[in-house]
Amino acid sequence: MTDQRPPALAITGLVRRYGTFTAVDALSLTVRAGEIVGFLGANGAGKTTTLRCACGLLQPDAGRVVVAGHDLASAPRAARAALGFVPDRPFVHERLTHREHLEFIAALYDVPAARARERGEALLAQLALTEVADQRLEQASLGMRQKLAVAMAVLHEPALLMLDEPLVGLDPPAARTLKDLLRAHAAAGGGVLVSTHLLEVAERVCDRVVILRRGRVVADGTLTELRGERTGASLEEVFMQHQSPPGATGA
Ligand SMILES: Nc1ncnc2c1ncn2[C@@H]1O[C@H](COP(=O)(O)OP(=O)(O)OP(=O)(O)O)[C@@H](O)[C@H]1O
Ligand SMILES: [Mg+2]
Repeated sequence: MTDQRPPALAITGLVRRYGTFTAVDALSLTVRAGEIVGFLGANGAGKTTTLRCACGLLQPDAGRVVVAGHDLASAPRAARAALGFVPDRPFVHERLTHREHLEFIAALYDVPAARARERGEALLAQLALTEVADQRLEQASLGMRQKLAVAMAVLHEPALLMLDEPLVGLDPPAARTLKDLLRAHAAAGGGVLVSTHLLEVAERVCDRVVILRRGRVVADGTLTELRGERTGASLEEVFMQHQSPPGATGA
């Protein structure tokens, strides 16, 4: 049976420059509904730039971003309503409490009040934030901020969830909860694009990985596909192989 749902994310020919420097160079990638895709690449490869373009925070120089069938350029409201984004540095309001942040998101995305309350409280509990839910963010630790950013991104049950290095700063139970959340999101039919430097996480959580090098996709596939002939190779070996120019050997 073929999947009739539009992809959660379809990026084609994305280009983004900073001055004369091309940070993202004709990048295309797809995240299908129900799929978790790991977005890998060395520091400066262009992951954050791509994710910011895909959620409408940065204007691309060329290319097309379509979220759950909605073109980000021609139907920005529908596209943005269909996505949730966890940035590398969470955007929070120091004077608002955790619970107020979730109320704000619920209002922004028109989540019905009863549903918002039920889902908000469940997320706070799942992420071990219930105890601090009425404290202002100025009192929050790094991990608390990141967990709140995750709750804010998933509250409205977006078709596409994008996360930029979401595991940095999370303690082991929170990291575990986040992985469970990603799986639950995909199981419910959502697509996930997650950038990470933790190859072990990519290996265990992602259905597919896309490896970026200097703004270009150099590998895209399941771990089995990327291993190719090299049965038994770890993702680290596959990753390292794609970081050096063709023909080069070693690190
Ligand atoms: N605002 C900016 N102005 C100029 N250059 C930028 C800007 N933001 C990013 N860059 C450059 O664009 C390239 C891609 O950066 P980006 O932040 O997208 O990489 P990344 O893959 O997210 O890296 P990391 O793993 O370190 O988070 C880098 O060379 C970076 O120096
Ligand atoms: Mg980054």
